[in-house]
Amino acid sequence: MSKIKHVAIIMDGNGRWANQRLRPRIWGHVRGSAVVSQIVQAANDFDLKALTLYAFSTENWSRPLEEVSTLFKLLKKFLEKEKKRIIENNIKFKVIGEIENLPKQTINLINEIESLTSNATGLNLTFAFSYGGRAEILRAVNNFTTQNPGKALTEQDINSLMYRPETGDVDLMIRTGGEHRVSNFLLWQMAYSELYFTPTKWPDFTYNEFEKILEKVANRERRFGNVSSQSGLIDSSERAEANRTNFMKGTITDV
Ligand code: FPP
Repeated sequence: MSKIKHVAIIMDGNGRWANQRLRPRIWGHVRGSAVVSQIVQAANDFDLKALTLYAFSTENWSRPLEEVSTLFKLLKKFLEKEKKRIIENNIKFKVIGEIENLPKQTINLINEIESLTSNATGLNLTFAFSYGGRAEILRAVNNFTTQNPGKALTEQDINSLMYRPETGDVDLMIRTGGEHRVSNFLLWQMAYSELYFTPTKWPDFTYNEFEKILEKVANRERRFGNVSSQSGLIDSSERAEANRTNFMKGTITDV
């Protein structure tokens, strides 16, 4: 069984896809939103634990108003169209990001679907909307320091204060559209993530390409800073602790 449980996707290339076809950028987003449905279906079929999709970044607010409002409309349309399927497929849905500036009706719809699916046990589907990775970390740190003045933060504290702690670390981040950047997406959760960049622009991304990427990446070895997953008899955190202790005691000296 694949060890890939949480996949995050930067759905890039909509604008260029449309421009190549001499259509306005928003046409690319319209076509792109149809692909979102297929990829959610695929993640569900592949038994992933979590799929997080970057639908609108905090930086995207600076795009022309028409484009911004199209993206809002597409989010609302998607939710209206897919609400029934999300519920029937036992999908647990959430939007992460600063959504308070979205139209009230869209916020209501998001709240409704989140609450209707709050006990679902299948795929954790997350849309990152008006989202920024640094802002998410800052929010966690500020929440913690307000509630625990003077106390030192641990990694677990930050994990638990992320927007959606139950989805945990990202195993694989896919970016479509040919750029090689992480663009302020899930910065904390991607510390050990595998990265996969495909030149395919989002409107051309398919169920089959997604499946092939998962197969390819499942064959990569993830070492988490260790030498090899097969190389030791003891757990890597135990070995790290033993190495640290030996250095402290002077058992291990400079070579
Ligand atoms: C990046 O493409 C994509 C976005 C900023 C938005 C992603 C949105 C969708 C896939 C459709 C919305 C769907 C839902 C369900 C919310 P780009 O415009 O930056 O492409 P470019 O790099 O070619 O300009």
